[in-house]
This record gives sequence, C-alpha cells and structure tokens, in this order.
Amino acid sequence: MTYVAAEDRYERMPYRRTGRSGLLLPAISLGLWHNFGDTQPLETQRAVLRRAFDLGVTHFDLANNYGPPFGSAETNFGRHMREDFAPYRDELIISTKAGYDMWPGPYGEWGSRKYLLASLDQSLQRMGLDYVDIFYSHRFDPETPLEETMGALDTAVRQGKALYAGVSSYSPGKTASAYAILRELGTPLVIHQPSYSMLNRWIEDELLDVLGELGVGCIVFSPLAQGMLTDKYLEGIPEGSRATRDTSLSPDLITDETREKLRALNEIAAARGQSLAQLALAWTLRDPRVTSTLVGASSVEQLESNLAALDRLDLSEDELAEIDRHATESGINIWAASSEEG
Ligand SMILES: NC(=O)c1ccc[n+]([C@@H]2O[C@H](COP(=O)([O-])OP(=O)(O)OC[C@H]3O[C@@H](n4cnc5c(N)ncnc54)[C@H](OP(=O)(O)O)[C@@H]3O)[C@@H](O)[C@H]2O)c1
Repeated sequence: MTYVAAEDRYERMPYRRTGRSGLLLPAISLGLWHNFGDTQPLETQRAVLRRAFDLGVTHFDLANNYGPPFGSAETNFGRHMREDFAPYRDELIISTKAGYDMWPGPYGEWGSRKYLLASLDQSLQRMGLDYVDIFYSHRFDPETPLEETMGALDTAVRQGKALYAGVSSYSPGKTASAYAILRELGTPLVIHQPSYSMLNRWIEDELLDVLGELGVGCIVFSPLAQGMLTDKYLEGIPEGSRATRDTSLSPDLITDETREKLRALNEIAAARGQSLAQLALAWTLRDPRVTSTLVGASSVEQLESNLAALDRLDLSEDELAEIDRHATESGINIWAASSEEG
C-alpha cells in the first residue's frame, strides 16, 4: 500500500538545536545498525520506519557497514526511500559514516581520504541518494593525519555529497583538533556521535564541556546499552534478543552486578510510571548539550514504547541523585578504543 505520512507527524516530537548550527534534530532519532540488514524481514523494517516518521522521527542514522551483511542496511533503506519516503526527502535527515572495516585491502577502513570518499560514493549509490545530510568519520584513525580525514569531510561537503560533517567516538582532545582543522577549511564540525547511557557515562568527564564550548551538537548512541537498559534482561537472556545473536552484545556483559543496578533503576522508573527504557532515554536528554538520543528498535512496539519517553522527560534532583547511585560505569563501552586514542 502506498505510504502517506501521518498529517499530525510534527505534533508530539520536540526538535532540538544541534550545537550552534541551524540544524534541528528530533529529541529521539532512529539508528539502523541492527534490524535493517538482510536477516530482518523487509516488512518489519518498513513498518518501523513508517511508524517512526509518523511519530516525528525525522532522522535516520546509517553507516556503510550496517547489516548484516555490510552495506545491506543502506541497500534496504534505499528501497524504503524509493518506495515510501521519496516524497519526503526534504523532511528527512539521513546520515552515514565510514571508519570501520568495510571492504578488503588497505583502502577499506580507517580514515584515509581514499577510503572516506570512495565509501561515501558507495553509500549514496546503495541508498539511491544524491546526498546525505550528515557524513561522519566513524572513528579516529591514529595512523592518518587528522588533516587528511577532516579534509575528506570538507571535500564531501564541498562536492554537495554531504550537507554537514560529523565525527564519532573521538576523544575530547581530538574533537577540538578536528573542529579547528575543519574551521580553517571553512566547513564547520556540526555534530559528534558518542556512546552514552546510564551504564556508560564517559562523555560527562570532558567531552560534553568541549562540545558545549565549541557549539558542536551531540547525538548519543546506544542509550539503552544495546537493550540492557530495558526490562528484557532483568531476569535472564530471552531467546531472539541481541545478546543471543552473537553480534555486538556479549551476554558476558550482563553480569549479576549489572543486573542489580538494572533492577534498582527499573524501580525508579516504575515509581515515575515509566519503563526502564523510557527512563533511560529521558535521562540521556536531561543535559541540553545532548541534541538527540539515538535508539535502535527491532519492532514497532519497541519503537512506540521508546518514543513514549517523551511524555515524561522531567527529572527531579532527588530522582537524579537516586539514579546516580546505580547508574555507574559497567564496562560496556566497546567503542572506547577510538575515544582513548590521543
Ligand atoms: N557511531 C557508532 O560507532 C555507533 C555505534 C553503535 C550504534 N550507533 C548508532 O546508534 C543506534 C542505536 O544503537 P543501539 O541499537 O545499540 O541502541 P539501543 O537503543 O541502546 O539498543 C537498541 C536495541 O535494544 C532493544 N530494545 C530497544 N527498545 C526496546 C524496548 N522498548 N524493550 C526491549 N528491548 C528494546 C532492541 O534489541 P533486540 O534485538 O534485543 O530486541 C534494540 O535493537 C544504531 O542503530 C546506530 O545508528 C552508532
């Protein structure tokens, strides 16, 4: 059936400014890392994307290697674009990235100009787009001069293949350097995409201050700690969940100690009339320097329930203090290697 977007799609979602740029992003954005590869039924993908847009989610986040297999999330998204969202292209912010392993040989990963620009061309082709809204350097490359990596982002913007430039999982120091290099080139660094959740709070030490001072936006990923900050792992590891799929969420990360924290946080959420996932999302948005929180969803039900976090974003001082007692580092930041460089 031909998709017609809901008329009231802009009535519930708050849009927040990305740093000091002109770009507004929905408070909650949707990522296509998992759940949009060839292993997920196209019908489910389609339903999730349609429902998201109907509820005001104007930002879909991709990367070259999302799948499985690599590239398939972009190819599938390209199909949904063509079949459903083509009339709405100007209402959408679509991002992609290059940095991790994508194709064999020395030009298929990290941060060279060769890799980044070739990868962006491939991404555009897979998605059937003329341009993406945001193009990210997906991780810091210690072997490539930062001037080269940022130069590639600048070129992408000048070629009109990306509207904005971003970095992901860069350390505070390397973020400041990236900002300075891009500024010199005349292309602003508009956004940083770091991991952040109640179990992984590294950005609070320094990165958020740097971003706030520079006026760079921040979209935080894995705010549910890949599903740990929901009620699904409170008692065990349910069949079909991400932790059973032998991908990015090792069941070894869900320790008894972490479960204790999850149960305590779940009680705080329940006292507010929220699910743990809803509390976890609201909590990531409590700092105005966080522009958007970037969730994943494997079903329409998950998406809808996550978006209902917007009904209750306020958090009292007492609640925040109580959350702090349990929301502590839990050894789940599998992206730390990039942000610890430099
Ligand atoms: N820049 C980077 O390096 C980087 C790295 C990682 C992610 N990201 C971006 O961030 C996005 C989100 O990452 P993520 O998928 O790890 O985020 P997440 O929101 O922390 O986890 C999403 C997963 O949690 C489960 N879930 C979500 N809502 C639920 C609910 N209400 N109840 C129960 N389970 C629920 C689902 O997994 P099940 O399959 O178990 O249902 C879902 O796929 C990615 O798609 C990507 O765009 C970027």
